[in-house]
Amino acid sequence: MAIALVTGASSGLGEEFAWQLATAGHDVVLVSRSRDRLSEVAHLLEGATGRSAEVLPADLTTEKGRTAVAARLQAEARPVSLLVNNAGFGIGERFAESSWRHEKALLDIHVTAPLRLAHAAVPGMIARGHGAVLNVSSVAAHLANTTYAAHKRWAVDFTQALAGQLGGTGVTATAVLPGLVRTRFHDSDALSHMRHEFPDTVWLDPERVVASALAAVRRGQTVVTPSPGYAVAGAVLRAVPRRLTRGRRSMQKD
Ligand SMILES: NC(=O)c1ccc[n+]([C@@H]2O[C@H](COP(=O)([O-])OP(=O)(O)OC[C@H]3O[C@@H](n4cnc5c(N)ncnc54)[C@H](OP(=O)(O)O)[C@@H]3O)[C@@H](O)[C@H]2O)c1
Repeated sequence: MAIALVTGASSGLGEEFAWQLATAGHDVVLVSRSRDRLSEVAHLLEGATGRSAEVLPADLTTEKGRTAVAARLQAEARPVSLLVNNAGFGIGERFAESSWRHEKALLDIHVTAPLRLAHAAVPGMIARGHGAVLNVSSVAAHLANTTYAAHKRWAVDFTQALAGQLGGTGVTATAVLPGLVRTRFHDSDALSHMRHEFPDTVWLDPERVVASALAAVRRGQTVVTPSPGYAVAGAVLRAVPRRLTRGRRSMQKD
């Protein structure tokens, strides 16, 4: 049975990806920093679905962590046919006030890691004639207001480029652009205020986002926005001049 590797599988969307993939009959490789939490997810998932779950602890903001996961993706034994680049976090800091350590980690988790892992996974997928890469972006990709948004924009553009280059190989690339989702993402002090700023109705459940993303992968669709409300918001944001999405304080002209 096809094997899927999911980054950020200890929580939120990644944990849900692991559950839905295993329930659909995939064996899974679970990646994140916390070995204990991954082992717990693997144990529950194996018991409930009968699929095997490998635990691969790695910090994807480090070269060492990315190299370990890349090595698993390049392994010819038990090859991975679906890579889900999902691990991520927000720092909730304005650029001029953030520390370089935070900015570098943000870039590494959202850009360096997906790039490195796709680079490791795709050649084997092409050689085998099938496979898929799923990159978790965000509706923030339509905004031009933070470095997080810039990284999520990169994820969409990278996916588009990959999809174009993979045409005719049997390998596909998909980017999913979730809106606000109820996960641990907004648990940090810097982001918890968002829970009160947005009404309950705009928060999505991970189940719905993941089901929509995996359906798009199965169709070979390149970009998907789960939920009609966020799809409309995305279409509106794409239609307005980009400078209007920079944020309240920007008076600068193009
Ligand atoms: N929640 C939202 O509203 C929302 C909206 C749009 C897009 N997204 C995107 O969805 C993705 C998943 O986020 P989530 O909402 O599911 O958040 P979450 O519940 O906080 O999960 C984040 C996952 O990433 C892992 N992770 C964090 N830092 C890592 C590192 N340095 N190395 C390896 N793994 C790391 C975490 O595991 P460990 O702590 O064990 O390492 C955890 O499994 C992110 O890319 C996020 O940008 C979220």
